[in-house]
Amino acid sequence: MTTNTANAAGMTGTTNMTVLVTGATGRVGRRVVESAEAAGLAVRAASRSGAVRFDWADRSTWAGALRGADAAHLAYLPDVGAPGAADTVGAFARLAVELGVRRLTLLSARGEPQAHATEQAVREAGARWTVVRAAWFAQNLSEGPLLDGMRGGELVFPAGEVLEPFIDARDVADVVVAALTGGDRFAGRTLDLTGPRLLTFRQAVAEVAAAAGREIAYVPVSARDYGAALAEFGIPAQEVEFLVDLFETNLDGRNGELSEGVREVLGRDPRDFADFVREEASAGTWKK
Ligand SMILES: NC(=O)c1ccc[n+]([C@@H]2O[C@H](COP(=O)([O-])OP(=O)(O)OC[C@H]3O[C@@H](n4cnc5c(N)ncnc54)[C@H](OP(=O)(O)O)[C@@H]3O)[C@@H](O)[C@H]2O)c1
Repeated sequence: MTTNTANAAGMTGTTNMTVLVTGATGRVGRRVVESAEAAGLAVRAASRSGAVRFDWADRSTWAGALRGADAAHLAYLPDVGAPGAADTVGAFARLAVELGVRRLTLLSARGEPQAHATEQAVREAGARWTVVRAAWFAQNLSEGPLLDGMRGGELVFPAGEVLEPFIDARDVADVVVAALTGGDRFAGRTLDLTGPRLLTFRQAVAEVAAAAGREIAYVPVSARDYGAALAEFGIPAQEVEFLVDLFETNLDGRNGELSEGVREVLGRDPRDFADFVREEASAGTWKK
């Protein structure tokens, strides 16, 4: 059955599709699941602990996750530009096509040349594709490894005083679903997504602190010192090397420009960082 649906994000399209969502319990993936369901898609929510068991590192889980899917949203962990990502994601995307998947989206990162080979592997897999290059997620400050520091009153991070156009993970998810449901409109496109405002990490943390009604300091460090601290926490040396290289490129100021991607795809402005901060502060996210 084919239905035409308009969902909360204001997008229309043909939505008789079953979509495999990888990273489905993550910051973006969880919201892709919600947005896709709101758009009327049948969703297979996949991760190592998800409803559909899927592990990038265990190829025996791949075919079972893909079976029955017409489309797939790919989010590669630990990072879209990590060593080996292009080979693994490319192999997965080709298997997806073999098993009948016709539409692929890839969650990629803005200003990350390390991710370009992964993007290219998806473009060459044989499906209609959309690459979604996102800026830094606002939700990095409310979910995941940086939350402990924020709650503890100090964010130590190697971002100096660079400007970053923080994007709300809900907007990234809405764009992914608009691409999946938008027919050919966004096929063969690499979309550049930012929030509506440039902020330094110091300013972002200050906005959080003001809304949370407490002191939270931003402590910039070098990428090398940050890497040394990660190594002390037991992150494997190869991963630390990659992260140091990633921070030294991605956080060198190259992302200090806004883009029109969200407006073009969704026909509205991206959510402002202040909206995210207000909602999370009232939910108590940054309480001690
Ligand atoms: N953070 C940013 O600002 C940013 C910006 C642009 C692009 N990106 C890209 O976005 C992706 C991360 O997305 P996110 O921040 O939404 O994720 P996240 O919040 O870090 O969550 C990770 C998700 O991936 C799953 N996962 C972890 N390891 C896995 C594995 N080996 N096999 C299968 N699933 C696995 C996790 O669930 P289980 O634990 O249940 O497996 C979870 O659903 C990365 O590719 C990153 O490069 C990030």
